[in-house]
Amino acid sequence: MKNIINFAHRGASAVCPENTMAAFHKSLVLGATGIETDVQMTKDGGLVLIHDEALSRTTDGTGYIKDKTLQEVLEVDAGSWFGAAFKGEKIPTLEDLLDLLQGRDTILNIELKNGLFLYPGMEEKVIATVRDFHMSERVILSSFNHYSLAYCKSIAPDILTGILYGEGLYRPWDYAASLKADALHATHYAVLPEFVAEATLHGIDYHPFTVNDPERMKYLIAAGVAGIITDHPDLLAELLAAQGG
Ligand code: G3P
Ligand code: MG
Repeated sequence: MKNIINFAHRGASAVCPENTMAAFHKSLVLGATGIETDVQMTKDGGLVLIHDEALSRTTDGTGYIKDKTLQEVLEVDAGSWFGAAFKGEKIPTLEDLLDLLQGRDTILNIELKNGLFLYPGMEEKVIATVRDFHMSERVILSSFNHYSLAYCKSIAPDILTGILYGEGLYRPWDYAASLKADALHATHYAVLPEFVAEATLHGIDYHPFTVNDPERMKYLIAAGVAGIITDHPDLLAELLAAQGG
């Protein structure tokens, strides 16, 4: 059986505040072989790991990341909203996570959150940072902004890209190929076994998100996906171990 990448969605986000170093550390303990994270950019070009464009849902700050300096973003508390035990967790930088993954073989899926705000220059900065850490062979760049992904491929053909989408793509493997992408990061209910088979024939991997139900995990594993993005890497690790993968 092929090795299916067990991507921890925003780190171990079921048990830790999402996109914090606590969540990333924990995901590795729980058996993740990959990590998915979201990157936004500060007004002075800092690359920070947070899902929303704004601070308010997951921190004690307010306002948009794009209007803050890196220093301002690093000052907020990104743990207390989730639980008192996580008080003092900070918003990590992309560098913090790349540093954690040095010397490991974890795959890193960096989702560029440049759908609402375009963050000019973000692609170059992310790619340069990945290269600084010699991680280009272990990174997959993804985004709902497919223009951005095509641009990433044009400036860094050696780095894998994954098309994020919800539904409604006709022959998604052809669409992926037209953007020179390597993978389809589809919402899991848009994934059928025949799609996976066809994509695989075309050399395109499926990495569905966000799969938290073990029965759905089993269905997708049987369908032949190359990876699964989940809030519960422990559950997926257990299933994969039981199936000898
Ligand atoms: O990358 C998969 C998934 O994270 C995409 O959606 O909103 O959780 O970033 P979202
Ligand atoms: Mg994401």
